[in-house]
Amino acid sequence: MTILVTGGAGFIGSNFILNWFEHSNEVIVNIDKLTYAGNLQTLLSLERHPQYHFVQADIKDSKLISRLLSQYRPRAVINFAAETHVDRSIHGPEDFIQTNIVGTFSLLECARNYWDELPVTDKKAFRFLQISTDEVYGSLLPEEPPFDESSRYTPNSPYAASKAASDHLLRAWHYTYGLPVLTTNCSNNYGPRQFPEKLIPLMILNALEGKPLPVYGDGLQIRDWLYVQDHCEALCKVLSAGQPGQNYNIGGGNEKTNLSVVQEVCAILDQIRPRSNGKSYHEQISFVTDRPGHDRRYAIDIGKMSGELDWQPRETFATGLRKTIQWYLDNNAWVQSVQNGSYRAWISTHYKDESLKGNQE
Ligand code: NAD
Ligand code: TYD
Repeated sequence: MTILVTGGAGFIGSNFILNWFEHSNEVIVNIDKLTYAGNLQTLLSLERHPQYHFVQADIKDSKLISRLLSQYRPRAVINFAAETHVDRSIHGPEDFIQTNIVGTFSLLECARNYWDELPVTDKKAFRFLQISTDEVYGSLLPEEPPFDESSRYTPNSPYAASKAASDHLLRAWHYTYGLPVLTTNCSNNYGPRQFPEKLIPLMILNALEGKPLPVYGDGLQIRDWLYVQDHCEALCKVLSAGQPGQNYNIGGGNEKTNLSVVQEVCAILDQIRPRSNGKSYHEQISFVTDRPGHDRRYAIDIGKMSGELDWQPRETFATGLRKTIQWYLDNNAWVQSVQNGSYRAWISTHYKDESLKGNQE
């Protein structure tokens, strides 16, 4: 059996693949365009894994995707591939429209054509799992209950709008063509291997480098943080037991203001990597101009995930954050290659030696 994963060289996709091989021998084909957010060094340990195959490709390349579907005959497609950084979507929305909307459309069409031709039992078992976000629901007022699966879609950023559009495509492909799709809407993830443009890794690395810790606006915006490993476990549950055509909200039950997250990062670093001058990292916190259209609060009701699929997050924010900080401290080579940009040249230099080409297509 085979699973086709897209965007597996990014933060959540790479954690998902590494996690998958800890409990399964099923083949994974990872298709990733390797944008700035894709980092194959993260998956170096799988280089010679017989069940792992990597193909550098854009999800919009329907000819190649169709060929890979016929070649590998997966029982599921899991779409992690996306442009994901809200700030980048504000400065340049084009790539978000192309990958998140046009790319998802293209992938859905390839999957539908492949699925149409499958024998009856394989057709019944096939799943297309779309990894989406809680940001499609817009912003909550302080007194409002967390988002559940019936909350109205009111996306506010170009990123959120592009993800909302792709969710609607999934819905239509299920209702119109019967494609067995599943959509998950997850809150903010954090954990090992996250690109340091996102809040938590940015704060850890800036703190260690003695740089300012830029908190947008008043820092009182609220996010619901989920440890990435918990997200991966939730996705496995949805893939194996989710009902086609359904959405599942996934969250950590950790509503925190951005300022308190940054303060917790500083407090842990003060304990485990104190500054040489004896001062606290808190001194580096710096309030900067707010993001335009900044959503004030996200929160997720996980009632459906816990009730129907028996899923709960394992990590508390305190345990998950400590593990995350320790990972960044322990993986200096990864951090350096991301910071100096060498991870981008890595694929061409590394695979010049044909004997190392391993499973790369
Ligand atoms: P990421 O930015 O770390 O990784 C995205 C990956 O997709 C990269 O490896 C990139 O090279 C690849 N990619 C981008 N465009 C592509 C294209 N056209 N074709 C093929 N590959 C392409 O993102 P992430 O944080 O791992 O997020 C993965 C998914 O989870 C996204 O769909 C995102 O919307 C969703 N999500 C993320 C979070 C979060 O907090 N990070 C929360 C909820 C949902
Ligand atoms: P981010 O990690 O970009 O995720 P998202 O925008 O998808 O929620 O940001 C998380 C929160 O942290 C968000 O409210 C914006 C805020 N933020 C800062 O205050 N400073 C920063 O430097 C960054 C990157 C984010």
